[in-house]
Amino acid sequence: MEPNIVIEARDLTKNYNGRPAVDHLTFRIREGEIFGFLGPNGAGKTTTLLMMLGLTEPSGGTVRVLGMDPAREPIRVKREIGYLQENMGFYRDLTGRQSLQFIADLNGITGDEADKRIEEALEEVGLTAEAEKKVGAYSRGMRQRLGFAEILVKAPKIAFLDEPTLGLDPEATGRMMDLIRDLCTRRNMTVMLSSHLLHQAQRICHRLGIMIHGRMVAEGTMEKLAAEKLGVGQEQYSLEEIYMKYFKES
Ligand SMILES: Nc1ncnc2c1ncn2[C@@H]1O[C@H](COP(=O)(O)OP(=O)(O)O)[C@@H](O)[C@H]1O
Ligand SMILES: [Mg+2]
Repeated sequence: MEPNIVIEARDLTKNYNGRPAVDHLTFRIREGEIFGFLGPNGAGKTTTLLMMLGLTEPSGGTVRVLGMDPAREPIRVKREIGYLQENMGFYRDLTGRQSLQFIADLNGITGDEADKRIEEALEEVGLTAEAEKKVGAYSRGMRQRLGFAEILVKAPKIAFLDEPTLGLDPEATGRMMDLIRDLCTRRNMTVMLSSHLLHQAQRICHRLGIMIHGRMVAEGTMEKLAAEKLGVGQEQYSLEEIYMKYFKES
């Protein structure tokens, strides 16, 4: 891998019941980049992330995360990355603070260092005032922010965020996206974020990949995507317009 490439997929394929959910996917993500992985439901986004995490094995092709093969070194890869699941599971009886303590323990972060990271993460996601409440009493938005705080406590080099705004109203979605961009930029964390919300991802991502039926039909900056597919240079196009264009052609 080139020195600044931290995630690479080549011809990555996953078949379920003989049909490709992910079909010869090739892409690279650079250190510090926020990469938006976009596509409608069923496009294969979650399946791709699971292969990056070593949680399911590819049927073909290769994946490298920080130079490692997640299928062969799943534990080492998991140690270096953060993962926000599409449907996060929490222990409802733990408080927010206890949940973060649990994550710190799991990752061997102890003592003053753990306390400091937990305080910081709670503050950063705006949960300090709710830290002693049980997670079972949290709203969906609070749980989402707690999930992100777990990643901040671990402080990995790469974060995989699968639909981090799922189930949030538009305003909360915007705030969550801003939070992701601000905190990941400040910590120089590389982010691969999946979403079906095109205009929101367009706002915070450096680069986008558009996935339809298991294939990456387009990849690049908004400007590049607009120029390629719509034949324009500087004009503003919403991702919806670009996306519909690809969708019709595929
Ligand atoms: N464990 C599984 N067994 C069989 N089919 C699956 C499984 N997981 C996902 N699929 C299928 O693979 C396709 C891609 O799913 P998924 O990766 O969840 O897409 P997305 O996250 O983009 O919504 C879908 O057609 C889905 O039904
Ligand atoms: Mg999904």
